[in-house]
Amino acid sequence: MILALKNPHGQLDLSIIESHLATQVVGRPQGTKNELWEEIDSTNSRALLLAQQGAPQGVMVLADSQTAGRGRLGRTWFSPPGAGLYMSVLLRPENLSAGLPLITIASGLAVATAVEIACGVKLQLKWVNDLIFQGRKVGGILAELQSIVSPSSTSSGFSQALVIGIGVNISSRNVRLPQELTDKVSWLEDVRHNSIDRNLLVSQIAYELEQVLGLLWSGQMNSILDAWRCYSATLGETVRATVGENTIEGLAIDITNSGALLIKTRNGTRELHAGEVSIRRPDGTYC
Ligand code: BTN
Repeated sequence: MILALKNPHGQLDLSIIESHLATQVVGRPQGTKNELWEEIDSTNSRALLLAQQGAPQGVMVLADSQTAGRGRLGRTWFSPPGAGLYMSVLLRPENLSAGLPLITIASGLAVATAVEIACGVKLQLKWVNDLIFQGRKVGGILAELQSIVSPSSTSSGFSQALVIGIGVNISSRNVRLPQELTDKVSWLEDVRHNSIDRNLLVSQIAYELEQVLGLLWSGQMNSILDAWRCYSATLGETVRATVGENTIEGLAIDITNSGALLIKTRNGTRELHAGEVSIRRPDGTYC
């Protein structure tokens, strides 16, 4: 673990991040420290391990690079040094049930809001977890839930740890991109044509995450959904989704209170609860 990095592209520095934090919980774990690694397998794996070891909620794990960064649906998250933001936050919500389906939606909204405020770039949200700019992926959310057996937890003997993992592409400088990603991803510095202060971005994400999760835990789903609709790249578009063996095609018309995507197809309206969608471009291809 390191406290500061020798990194020419705006080094990550925990003391700078913490001095900008305007949060009560996120990034302010009681009795332990946030972590910054020069290299780690996955910040989500590290945060899940910390959860098992009894770490308090709020702890943030950051890394300059990941050797086994993971995305949704079993995918790899490309995480070379200095190129992105790789961040995980451990939370221990008391009553998850109502908010659970919206965690990814809410976290994506928090990151989009933070990027707009800290970097002046308005990203869009593609259901369910993609942060995109002009059809290219700039970031994503991987929320993971773990049940932990612990004597001090609820009467059931279990407590729940929620890890919210955030990946944002920052700079393509010195990055050798795998061929399959070249026309699919984009980078904040390429969009903004200016350097991005990763430390400021981390503290803004922490703040927005705390705000939006506060809404979630207090049942204010409509506020989250209304804000998400404003950032949506999906609603009003013709989309295609693969569900098991079947493909659904139709017009994405709305998002439900439980975060499902409503797609109006020729055979009626379908609710999509899992998986991912592709959006139809004007030339008929899907991205
Ligand atoms: C996705 O779009 O599929 C989600 C990508 C999430 C990537 C982040 S990077 C930090 C954290 N650690 C991981 O291993 N994954 C998440």
